[in-house]
Amino acid sequence: MKLATIVGARPQFIKAATVSRAIGETPALREILIHTGQHYDANMSKVFFDELRLPRPDYNLGIGGGHHGAQTGQMLIEIEKVLLHEKPDAVLVYGDTNSTLAGALAAAKLHIPLAHVEAGLRSFNKKMPEEQNRILTDHLADLLFAPTKTATDNLLHEGRPPENIHTVGDVMYDAVRYYAALAANSTVLQRHGLNEKNYVLATIHRAENTDDPATLEKIMHDLTRLANEIPVVLPLHPRTRKMLAAIEGSPGQAKITLIDPVGYLDMLMLEKNARLVITDSGGVQKEAYFHGVPCLTMRNETEWVELVQLGYNRLFRPGDDIIAAYEAMQATVITTSTLYGTGDAALKVREAIESQLS
Ligand code: UD1
Ligand code: UDP
Repeated sequence: MKLATIVGARPQFIKAATVSRAIGETPALREILIHTGQHYDANMSKVFFDELRLPRPDYNLGIGGGHHGAQTGQMLIEIEKVLLHEKPDAVLVYGDTNSTLAGALAAAKLHIPLAHVEAGLRSFNKKMPEEQNRILTDHLADLLFAPTKTATDNLLHEGRPPENIHTVGDVMYDAVRYYAALAANSTVLQRHGLNEKNYVLATIHRAENTDDPATLEKIMHDLTRLANEIPVVLPLHPRTRKMLAAIEGSPGQAKITLIDPVGYLDMLMLEKNARLVITDSGGVQKEAYFHGVPCLTMRNETEWVELVQLGYNRLFRPGDDIIAAYEAMQATVITTSTLYGTGDAALKVREAIESQLS
């Protein structure tokens, strides 16, 4: 059976690495990898292929940047050409990016069975491009791989057929477990003068936080206040770097350790040793939990509601009292459990594809 996997953005390389490995272990499946090119800087793309030993893409469509419509439309045009040429038996997409939606549309219009990993997540905020992408993808997909019970319930609530839904756990949990040993060799703490459990790790990249200069300025102000108490390290997503350039010189920014995006192994090391994680990333919220580190999420809502319900993660609005929030989170005791599966999500994905799509 020939499977076409479509990826394009940083978190998708990480998600696909675990499933691609499982696929590679069975001769019954042959995978071709299509990279849309949505993320293209070496530290947003190549580093993950190198570190995670993800197979080189068979196609790189080179479609990065641009507005949503143009980006998604260009991807649809180019993915369709590849699918017509390769004639795969099934298409596999991940997450909620424009690459996900373009891949899903291209497959559905060619009547190629479609599988969606990380199905059923909802923020219930339709202004988010990710929410639009995931709802549409879930309604086109023939196989839905939900990471949590909440995600499965969302899909059932939207009328998706129960026989198409598999609650498999989170492939990102598989990845954290698999790469932990390699990450142990990371020297990122030494390189940036950070001490174990004595810094805060922050990541910010969501459109809602970066596109409005006033909001971004508030966030930088919050992080700067915190940096007076404890070192704050912020690997800068290129979107955030670009938007920050417009408000360069805002007071105190120099106190934050701004660094380039890091590879996955360095990131795991940074997460594991942080005293607190502050993020608007979906993946980083869960990785904080996997490492037993409390998290403040700079958003109005999250798709990973379980962690908020348990008190391991707290929503934080820019401009709120960050010192109080930081201090409150210190007391959090995190007990990790099987909330996101048992580390065999990728295997379950492969088995379901083999049994239901071949
Ligand atoms: C995308 C996803 C988001 C995901 C994030 C992961 C959509 C709508 N958004 O957001 O869900 O959480 O990826 O990181 O698909 N850029 C570079 N170099 C790169 C990549 C991007 O300079 O390698 C800059 C470009 O100016 C680009 C901007 O960042 O226009 C935004 O990139 P884009 O991929 O459109 O959206 P992200 O914010 O990365
Ligand atoms: N990540 C990374 N280097 C960084 C920032 C994030 O390797 O500098 C990893 C992180 O560990 C997680 C994934 O990228 O696995 C999350 O991606 P991102 O925050 O870009 O997107 P989201 O999860 O919000 O869609």
